[in-house]
Amino acid sequence: MSEEIKVIRIEDVPHFVGQTVKIGVWLRQKRGSGKIAFLQLRDGTGFMQGVVVSADVDEALFKLAEHLKQESSFYVTGEIHEDSRSSFGYEMAVSAIDMVGESEGYPITPKEHGTDFLFDQRHLYLRHQKPYATLKIRDEIIRGIYDFFYQDGFLKFDSPILTDSAPEGTTELFPVDYFDQTAYLSQTGQLYVEAGAMAFGKVYDFGPTFRAEKSSTRRHLTEFWMIDAEMAWMHQEQSLDVQERMIAYLIQRVVDNCQTELEMLGRDADKLRSYTKLPFPRVSYDDAVKLLQDNDFDIKWGVDFGSPEETFLANYYKTPFFVVNFPKAIKAFYMKRHPTRDDVVISADLMAPEGYGEIIGGSERDTDYDYLKQRLIDQHLDLKEYDWYLDLRKYGSVPHSGFGLGLERFIRFVAGEDHIRETIPFPRTLNRLHP
Ligand code: 4AD
Repeated sequence: MSEEIKVIRIEDVPHFVGQTVKIGVWLRQKRGSGKIAFLQLRDGTGFMQGVVVSADVDEALFKLAEHLKQESSFYVTGEIHEDSRSSFGYEMAVSAIDMVGESEGYPITPKEHGTDFLFDQRHLYLRHQKPYATLKIRDEIIRGIYDFFYQDGFLKFDSPILTDSAPEGTTELFPVDYFDQTAYLSQTGQLYVEAGAMAFGKVYDFGPTFRAEKSSTRRHLTEFWMIDAEMAWMHQEQSLDVQERMIAYLIQRVVDNCQTELEMLGRDADKLRSYTKLPFPRVSYDDAVKLLQDNDFDIKWGVDFGSPEETFLANYYKTPFFVVNFPKAIKAFYMKRHPTRDDVVISADLMAPEGYGEIIGGSERDTDYDYLKQRLIDQHLDLKEYDWYLDLRKYGSVPHSGFGLGLERFIRFVAGEDHIRETIPFPRTLNRLHP
């Protein structure tokens, strides 16, 4: 009686050297000499090469292999060999192919394609190596986020997506008909996690957030995933400590668990590892402006940094760094007043190295009912929509701090991607809602 052939996945191939196995695969590419067909295969867990040698197999199988089309799907059977010449380390000597799905005229051919074309074909382009590597890193980071917060004693606290508030300003809102009123897609879950922190101590949310950004840049999406963390009884310094430990932990996880993917993307793991050294430098906004002015930037105190300013500072620090205590006038209403200055707030932005820009925004939150009420009025926000938020200051207000990490901004930096649209399966930008 013949032994049943095991069906495995490419990621398990190293355990089956010398054995005959069967794998469900798609054909990425193929080349051949008339005597040998080299099949580049993938199955979602990895990539490998199958070799069909005409002298070793019957004529029908060799013909079938030679006529396979890009992205057709089939079961491939054969013996696994180690192969140091192959970039994947292993090869299969193919002895059978069982067709499953034909593929005719697959649009993404091995030639170079423009970015717009590839994003029009995003549903198919996801199968290719670059998006594959980036989205595997995304998955590792997402799992790392849950693990980090769990180990650090935070409760996962889900904020709503449909809201009636605009904590980060009213110019970038997506309105939605909500029965007889207008709702907005959430810009940040922050106000809700503040309520959560008063109930559970340390909480975080993690979900999609939306900003109707009219700017088309390498770092803006209209739909992106944010982690809002909020900690009761914590001042800003303790929040910065959580932030830098989280960033170092996530980078280390990717370096440890995504070596193949980093290699595929040409991202230097040693360089990434160098960014896990703590503490990250803290520079005040005042000193950052002075540093820029001393280096011929035409920047006045009071304005936000643009990309050239952030890139200069990143090249100066060569590691993630915090810019702390921004001007009050350019920051959100909830940020805590500085104890001795009226023009700055206790805030911090974490900047990524190499010019990838801001990845975290956060602050200590003001705890005073009357002050916050006045800030809402000054910013022309509707007090009725914030009554519950003000209640948090009425009933046992305590010092608390928090921050928001933009998931795709962080992935862009870790994966070394030129554009943020590469970091999410189906990006939403000013010009893209399809597919
Ligand atoms: O700095 P932001 O606006 O801060 C907040 O929303 C706070 N309420 C967060 C908090 O304290 N809980 O946004 C936080 C982060 C930014 O640092 C950036 O990484 C990301 O969200 N972000 C974007 N990412 C992609 N596309 C956009 N349009 C983004 N806008 C902000």
